[in-house]
Amino acid sequence: RTTQVVIVGGGPSGLLLSQLLHKAGIDTVVLERQSRDYVLSRIRAGVLEHGFVELMRRAGAGARMDRDGEVHHGFHIAHQGQLDRINLAASAPGQTVMVYGQTEVTRDLYAARDAMGGQIIHEAVNVALHDLMTGHPYVTYVLHGEKCRIDTNFIVGADGFHGVSRKSIPADILQEYEKVYPFGWLGVLSETPPAAAELIYARHERGFALCSMRNARLSRYYIQVPLTDRVEDWSDDAFWSELKRRLPDQIGQKMQTGPSIEKSIAPLRSFVAEPMRYGTLFLAGDAAHIVPPTGAKGLNLAASDIHYLYEGLADHFLRGDDAGLDSYSEKALARVWKAERFSWWMTGLLHRFPDMSPADLRLQQAGLDYLFSSDAAQASLAENYVGLPY
Ligand code: FAD
Ligand code: DHB
Repeated sequence: RTTQVVIVGGGPSGLLLSQLLHKAGIDTVVLERQSRDYVLSRIRAGVLEHGFVELMRRAGAGARMDRDGEVHHGFHIAHQGQLDRINLAASAPGQTVMVYGQTEVTRDLYAARDAMGGQIIHEAVNVALHDLMTGHPYVTYVLHGEKCRIDTNFIVGADGFHGVSRKSIPADILQEYEKVYPFGWLGVLSETPPAAAELIYARHERGFALCSMRNARLSRYYIQVPLTDRVEDWSDDAFWSELKRRLPDQIGQKMQTGPSIEKSIAPLRSFVAEPMRYGTLFLAGDAAHIVPPTGAKGLNLAASDIHYLYEGLADHFLRGDDAGLDSYSEKALARVWKAERFSWWMTGLLHRFPDMSPADLRLQQAGLDYLFSSDAAQASLAENYVGLPY
């Protein structure tokens, strides 16, 4: 069996690329280790930048997003009992983000792939990449006990942080940069109306909290927790009462609570692997980089990788031009590092680190005081939150 591009990983990165390439007449096969139901059961990101929204439309998968997604013009930061607003148009007129869950994005991409007869092979295990430095790479995997092989021109590693693709690059070539934060986020999804019409990021002495949403009847909340906490330690009641303590009274007191329909803990990490290309292998999305979730950048960064990679692959196959593929790693990484910086900065502004001295706390407070006293600082935050240009 042969194809032009093998895509390892059927998360949002892999599905979006497969869809875009197929529409350009380029043949792909997606290899996904999990079942479709499992992939769709993961609750993750919820805020889409304009660039992501555009790519979904270009992929022919944007109709439901445009109908059901919520356009947001701002968000709030809660601190010292008060609620301040960031206007997203502070950086440039008309700037917004779209609130539409990653689960729905993935569902729409699967539907679009199905409609075009796209090839997604689920439950492909023991995926291994071979001969990456030759012009004839190939991929082997096991499907329901049977060993399979696909010969290809290029391999895209869109298999997330724990995937096999990044690990296929020799250690003496790959440079990894990492920062691990001393806390995690405990997330809860509940069938309740959102606490407010816009997102609220809260800095509090008991730790960070975030009120987000998926739609008018579905809310998503997060609280900062120690890395030693386990999901089983947190009853729904304990979660709601801790969340309310970290929010301004005006929000906490009238907030509706209910049973959790999903509850999980995610560690926070900054991670970048360089370069994002090795011979015929290209890394994209979480396979190459992780940001702490505070700036809502993880999924959006995957989209800019896919944009650059799509253009490079289309130029190669349709025009015989390799300039885009040759500059892919450099172009993608330039944007990745800026989003890493922003996510690290916003994490530092709002979280309570275990070893903070009184001086650290005053500096953090001064950061917020400066933000809400300076139009330039608010414009900078808004510019990054809506997403830097591709
Ligand atoms: P993934 O979504 O990880 O997809 C990779 C796919 O590859 C998976 O389906 C996986 O099953 C498959 N795979 C892995 N290994 C193999 C293999 N060896 N062979 C074949 N297939 C393989 N971002 C935000 O902006 N906000 C959030 O709140 C947020 N919360 C998150 C919570 C968690 C627990 C995690 C892990 C991430 C979160 N993110 C969040 C980040 C965001 O979800 C990711 O940036 C986004 O999913 C990246 O998409 P991706 O397609 O690159 O990777
Ligand atoms: C969500 C997650 C984030 O990390 C964030 O910054 C904003 C929203 C969410 O899951 O809705």
